[in-house]
Amino acid sequence: MAARIDFPTQAAIDEAVAVLRAGGLIGLPTETVYGLAGDAANPAAVAAIFAAKGRPNDHPVIVHVAPGADLSRWAARVPDDARRLIDAWWPGPLTLILPRAQGVDDAVTGGQDTVGLRCPSHPVAQAVLAAFGGGVAAPSANRFGRVSPTTAQHVAGEFGDAVPLVLDGGACEVGIESTIVDVSGDAPVLLRPGHIAAADLARTLGRPVLTRAQAEALRATPRVSGALAAHYAPRTPLELVAAEALPARLAAARAAGQAVGAWSRRDPGGAARWLAAPAEPEAYAHQLYAALRALDGHGLDLLLVEAPPDGERWAGVRDRLGRAAVGSGPGTPV
Ligand code: TXA
Ligand code: MG
Repeated sequence: MAARIDFPTQAAIDEAVAVLRAGGLIGLPTETVYGLAGDAANPAAVAAIFAAKGRPNDHPVIVHVAPGADLSRWAARVPDDARRLIDAWWPGPLTLILPRAQGVDDAVTGGQDTVGLRCPSHPVAQAVLAAFGGGVAAPSANRFGRVSPTTAQHVAGEFGDAVPLVLDGGACEVGIESTIVDVSGDAPVLLRPGHIAAADLARTLGRPVLTRAQAEALRATPRVSGALAAHYAPRTPLELVAAEALPARLAAARAAGQAVGAWSRRDPGGAARWLAAPAEPEAYAHQLYAALRALDGHGLDLLLVEAPPDGERWAGVRDRLGRAAVGSGPGTPV
């Protein structure tokens, strides 16, 4: 049975909080993607999140907090860099990796000595967090490795009875997951690109934010499930193709008898389904997962996606599409 979708009236928010207090799970809208949310202080609730997602349990989850929340329940300390980033970017699509406080459950941190914290800007997420009072563990509300959800309908279709209630906060404005920065060590490290660019964070900090490659040269970096090569993946095989090569690739696939879906700025001609891709990275990210899900739903043989441009503003969508291409196809990834 699919989960019930409710508009976020006060009664629905009260009910969502009651579900969280009882150790249950809800579908929670945020400005990035929908989260599969449970009480971060309740190990059974966190275990239920992992079970519903089919996610390996050594992967840490992000703890979501209300604006102004006392972080000492979760973080052993808030380094100066973290304080600056919080003041500049919270609430918003930025997750900070901080030294973990004593008493934070291993299921939340994946057994690591750090914890991921985020204060979302979506008004429904904030209403739930304020009424709940505690921290809410919320990975993206998709089965492990699959395309993240950006509407309440995406979530309701994904989990059935495991999630009784999905609050409908509309289509997520940002559309891709939060930028993740590790500020637990000596130098800030970008673990996952997103809407907030590393250059903007560096400006706030007055010093560079290292890439993973730069950081790996200095020390071992923590695990990030989004850093697996295969992730965010549709079931239909997906190929990234340069704009100028797209019509020829599509024609070759058609000649081989394949039904092809395409997502590109211009109609390449001959696609069984074509969706127009936005030319700006913000609009592109906003539509990315819904477009992948829509194209994935037509039983096609192949999805061709125009490779996004170079440049830092496109880093978030380039990252997601690269992994989607690696992980696409039936039965992958595990
Ligand atoms: O935008 C978002 O961040 C969304 C919404 C729902 O808030 N959440 C999200 O959660 O993307 P999830 O679980 O799908 O991705 C969280 C990422 C994972 O790759 C996880 O490994 C990483 O954050 N993460 C969490 N805690 C960490 C930690 N202590 N150290 C390193 N990575 C961590
Ligand atoms: Mg995810």
